[in-house]
Amino acid sequence: MFAVYASEPNADDPLASLAVGDRPEPDVPDGWVTVNVKAASLNMHDIWTLRGVGIKPDQFPMILGCDGAGVLDDGTEVVLHSVIGDPEWRGEETLDPKRTLLTEKYQGTFADKVVVPKRNAIGKPAEMSFAEGAIMGTAWLTAYRMLFVKSGLRPGQTMLVQGASGGVSTALVQLGRAAGMRVWVTGRSEAKRDLAKQLGAHETFESGARLPERVDAVFETVGKATWSHSMKSLKPGGIIVVSGSTSGPDPSADLQRLFFLQLRVVGSTMGTRDELASLLEFVRLAGIRPQIGTELPLSEAKEGFRTMLEGDTAGKTVFTL
Ligand SMILES: NC(=O)c1ccc[n+]([C@@H]2O[C@H](COP(=O)([O-])OP(=O)(O)OC[C@H]3O[C@@H](n4cnc5c(N)ncnc54)[C@H](OP(=O)(O)O)[C@@H]3O)[C@@H](O)[C@H]2O)c1
Repeated sequence: MFAVYASEPNADDPLASLAVGDRPEPDVPDGWVTVNVKAASLNMHDIWTLRGVGIKPDQFPMILGCDGAGVLDDGTEVVLHSVIGDPEWRGEETLDPKRTLLTEKYQGTFADKVVVPKRNAIGKPAEMSFAEGAIMGTAWLTAYRMLFVKSGLRPGQTMLVQGASGGVSTALVQLGRAAGMRVWVTGRSEAKRDLAKQLGAHETFESGARLPERVDAVFETVGKATWSHSMKSLKPGGIIVVSGSTSGPDPSADLQRLFFLQLRVVGSTMGTRDELASLLEFVRLAGIRPQIGTELPLSEAKEGFRTMLEGDTAGKTVFTL
């Protein structure tokens, strides 16, 4: 079948390991289903995989793609939850030490077909396109959990999103606006800040700019480049929710500020199947049209990877089949 995959780990030149071609049809274990993929979206995670981060060398070649939407053999339209847990685990899926994300152990969604445990295929709302469904399972689910499960923010409070045009950032802006938060965003260029405004941000600022007042919560995926600004932007007692560090981890955690102002720093990763179901329902009820910056046929995936590597995004990049 047709697929886009990582042929081998390549820390310095990830695009050199990106292959477009034929891969074997998947076997379908008991209790798993085949999803005929209609759309799948690109995440920074796919670039980490090409670099060999978070995947063992013996897992290559690996079909990329952590999330997607498609059709089961019986015609049911589904959105994929890409956290695959240990069947023996009891408790919250994201805390299962043996959990993996599609592409870490099992083949991903950038292919004609993907197989997943039956419970990982969730009914797609009829109002949602396949392309929109394909961006829910990773970036949007991560944003939903950061905002509604981890931050404790109430409608009417102020949130700062670091980064304007990324997949997680654009989801945070659209979800936060729909939920009644005051949404502030930093962006690296005027075009990116304009995009955040169009998506519902009340105010936008240049990266690192002094804010008119301190905020209740900061949402971080950037890391080193914005961390100190995030710490300085918080009200006493405020919270930073962090789910990524694209520009690298920050070795100086600003501990003095952390304890003196009684700040809270909370990690967040992906989300549960139930949270994904709630996200799909919230998007439907609130009438949100999730931001897709680029839509390309899967055969042209390389172009999408290149623009993400160059930081040239305007929301999610979706590949269609
Ligand atoms: N823990 C999890 O479950 C989880 C899930 C999804 C993603 N993540 C992580 O979250 C991060 C973002 O993922 P994504 O898919 O949203 O990536 P993306 O679409 O490529 O977005 C990257 C974002 O980072 C910002 N950025 C990058 N370098 C920056 C710098 N030097 N200074 C300021 N801003 C910078 C960009 O801001 P501008 O718009 O201003 O350029 C943009 O908003 C990645 O590290 C990813 O691995 C984690």
